[in-house]
Amino acid sequence: MSKGIQVAIDGPASAGKSTVAKLVAKRFGYVYCDTGAMYRSVTLAALRRGTDLTDEDQIIKVANEIKITFAPGNPQKVFIDGQEVTQAIRETTVAKNVSAVAAIPGVRSRMVELQRQIAQEGGIVMDGRDIGTTVLPDAPVKVFMVASAHERARRRFLDNQERGIDGGTIEELQRAIELRDQKDSTRAVSPLTQAVDAHLLDTTHLTIDQVVDQIATLIEKTQQQKQ
Ligand code: DC
Repeated sequence: MSKGIQVAIDGPASAGKSTVAKLVAKRFGYVYCDTGAMYRSVTLAALRRGTDLTDEDQIIKVANEIKITFAPGNPQKVFIDGQEVTQAIRETTVAKNVSAVAAIPGVRSRMVELQRQIAQEGGIVMDGRDIGTTVLPDAPVKVFMVASAHERARRRFLDNQERGIDGGTIEELQRAIELRDQKDSTRAVSPLTQAVDAHLLDTTHLTIDQVVDQIATLIEKTQQQKQ
């Protein structure tokens, strides 16, 4: 039996990629890989080592030295050199510095290499910013998930409320999201862009289940074509 295909899900921050990607992976018995968590792990490891975050060579060294692993769980567990960092990579200091770390070409090339290794067997749902364009350009299913900045801010606000986090008002969150979109789309290396062969999925007016169903249909169609 085939191990399944590669599914690439890209899109801007807070578009619901990870929620949907996890559910799609569960439905098909595929592995889920959160590539944002990998950039966050490099950032956390650099911060913990006291690395000068303006010294690109030192950060690349960290990226090459650490071993990032995942384990099942809800949320999925993340480890750096065997030590669990699932919560720690979501902290504010990491969030503030990760964009700069993710913009370093040497960090990206190392992460892309690891991501390709993880995906090589197929049966994978990988989410990020450059999966369909750079990491897995031959993935048979590519989705570019978007939602209006206001809707993304609203979702993030509700998410914060649920977790008891004071993350600011919807308006403040919207401004931060717009700023991040701009940074992610205009950086020199692997900017956030839709792959030409990706399906554009606007989730502004869709429920999570509707989005998962639409992606599931794409996967099933692709599997049928392959048979
Ligand atoms: O999806 P996230 O918020 O966990 O991503 C964290 C950061 O990593 C964000 O600044 C975008 C960046 N990132 C990236 O550049 N490429 C990816 N494939 C995934 C995330």
